[in-house]
Amino acid sequence: MCGIVGYIGKRDVAPLLLEGLQRLEYRGYDSAGIAIAGKSGGLKTVKAKGRVRELEARVPKRFTGTTGIAHTRWATHGAPSDDNAHPHLDAEGKVAVVHNGIIDNATELRAKLTADGVEFRSETDTEVLTHLIGRSQADTLEEKVRQSLALIEGTYGVAVLHADFPDRIVVARNGSPVVLGIGEKEMFVASDVAALVTHTRQVVTLDDGEMATLKADDFRTYTTDGARTTASPTTVEWEAESYDMGGHDTYMHKEMAEQVEAVDRVLRGRIDDRFSTVHLGGLNLDAREARAVRRVKILGCGTSYHAGLIGAGLIEELARIPADGEPASEFRYRNPVVDPDTLYVAVSQSGETYDVLAAVQELKRKGARVLGMVNVVGSAIARETDGGVYVHAGPEVCVVSTKCFTNTVVAFALLALHLGRIRDLSVADGKRLIAGLRKLPGQIAEILEQEPEIKKLAEEYADARSMMFIGRVRGYPVALEASLKLKEISYIHAEAYPASELKHGPLALIEPAMPTIAIVPDDDLLEKNRAALEEIKARSGPILAVAHREQEKADHTIVVPKSEQELDPILMGIPLQLLAYHTALALGRDIDKPRNLAKSVTVE
Ligand code: AGP
Repeated sequence: MCGIVGYIGKRDVAPLLLEGLQRLEYRGYDSAGIAIAGKSGGLKTVKAKGRVRELEARVPKRFTGTTGIAHTRWATHGAPSDDNAHPHLDAEGKVAVVHNGIIDNATELRAKLTADGVEFRSETDTEVLTHLIGRSQADTLEEKVRQSLALIEGTYGVAVLHADFPDRIVVARNGSPVVLGIGEKEMFVASDVAALVTHTRQVVTLDDGEMATLKADDFRTYTTDGARTTASPTTVEWEAESYDMGGHDTYMHKEMAEQVEAVDRVLRGRIDDRFSTVHLGGLNLDAREARAVRRVKILGCGTSYHAGLIGAGLIEELARIPADGEPASEFRYRNPVVDPDTLYVAVSQSGETYDVLAAVQELKRKGARVLGMVNVVGSAIARETDGGVYVHAGPEVCVVSTKCFTNTVVAFALLALHLGRIRDLSVADGKRLIAGLRKLPGQIAEILEQEPEIKKLAEEYADARSMMFIGRVRGYPVALEASLKLKEISYIHAEAYPASELKHGPLALIEPAMPTIAIVPDDDLLEKNRAALEEIKARSGPILAVAHREQEKADHTIVVPKSEQELDPILMGIPLQLLAYHTALALGRDIDKPRNLAKSVTVE
């Protein structure tokens, strides 16, 4: 949520910052801005409501310098506007601040500063911090920032530029990611490695409560209390090219296509044919501890929550451990009973989602064991958890999640198989599931080949005002996720219900103008699902089935390859990603940047 990028070195900074902002735009895209330390002293800024391209159009020709900070915003305090765009300047125009996160006591601080005569130019919480730094009497920029941060409550990832200290950028982190990029006589800072990888893959990720001073040829890290910290650079695994569109028209399209290789990657090196199980190196849970687990509770938000629901089903089926999923955003506020025999699993693509992180922190505070199911290596949730499974989907840039969802579900299948084989899952079942897992990449490729037909279906359904998604047991979370995908990018209203619940209310909505998308696997519930289709047909509701064979009652069927039935949810969601995509395309939506959304929700 919001993107920060900064640079100090010898190169012309404005083009570098604009390029970084473009790479971070998926984190927020309602306004953007740049501040640079001009060659002749003083700061220069340019800001624009809208996309980075609008900002680029406003950057004057002589906007030169070799040190600068920039921001792309997802509005929290104050509507998207030029004034509310970051960077914010203090009264004298000497301090520029870009900030991700929320300052909880901004209203109170703003009132005090206003009483002292400060005139605010924006409605943002960030401007408060800018004035605090500007008014600090401390001698060094580091001390000015430190003193000011001590006055604020809330979360932040900040980068600060000061006209009187043009040889440095000071950054700090508390709850919002800050990554330093180490170059040759140049330093970068960003809220996400996406902005760094074209320049350097040597990075240092700040911890909460940590600050850093960046100079062109050097950097140092320290706590907000001033104590030096040791920064150990790591190498970013992901290639710079994996952030490019790779010949596709949208990131979403590219990321759906990448599912074949992504699933192959999450399986790679983990299958143990000798014992018909899988090895998950980072789990930090030995066999005795795994056997002692009495319940599994899976926490995540949005798509990751849906992946967690499928994961819970897999764990219950394969390991016979009671398991359920819950939105992390709800869990953290309901004073949950934390049970020592429960294994908690926090799911997050970004590893940054604030609600998930807060749930993890609450659990840890209460002494629980928490595993992470995360895509971004070294992210906050990956670091806070006691162990976990990386989902290895590669970077996901489109705001809506596709390949990460699929890989997370596969990673849950691996976890379930691992726990199952430690308990009572037979060797034969282990072998059967491993064979099923190995077939997945080829089966996904088969589904993706149906894109032209799915596109036609999408165009047929695109004028619907609302759609119903139904599934039963394993199919229900698939329906939930498919309906979310459609909503997010097409803005068509969609409901997801267990097929078994239709008669208990939602059947009232069925009519010729309300298409139903039904998940109908060839499993032991096939006849029950067919009965639901009958009920819909009897009310003249159009039906699109996703099934393992043509469904007579459906107007159309998308046939997906048959997997092991426990693994069906992995494949059955994929055609519905394509359906959502082509529906949104037919409606002319901005697929990679849907309205009101941003990729990583790092605020409450
Ligand atoms: C996915 O399409 C969504 N944009 C959203 O629901 C997302 O899955 C959710 O915000 C959680 O994100 P995370 O996986 O990075 O924690």
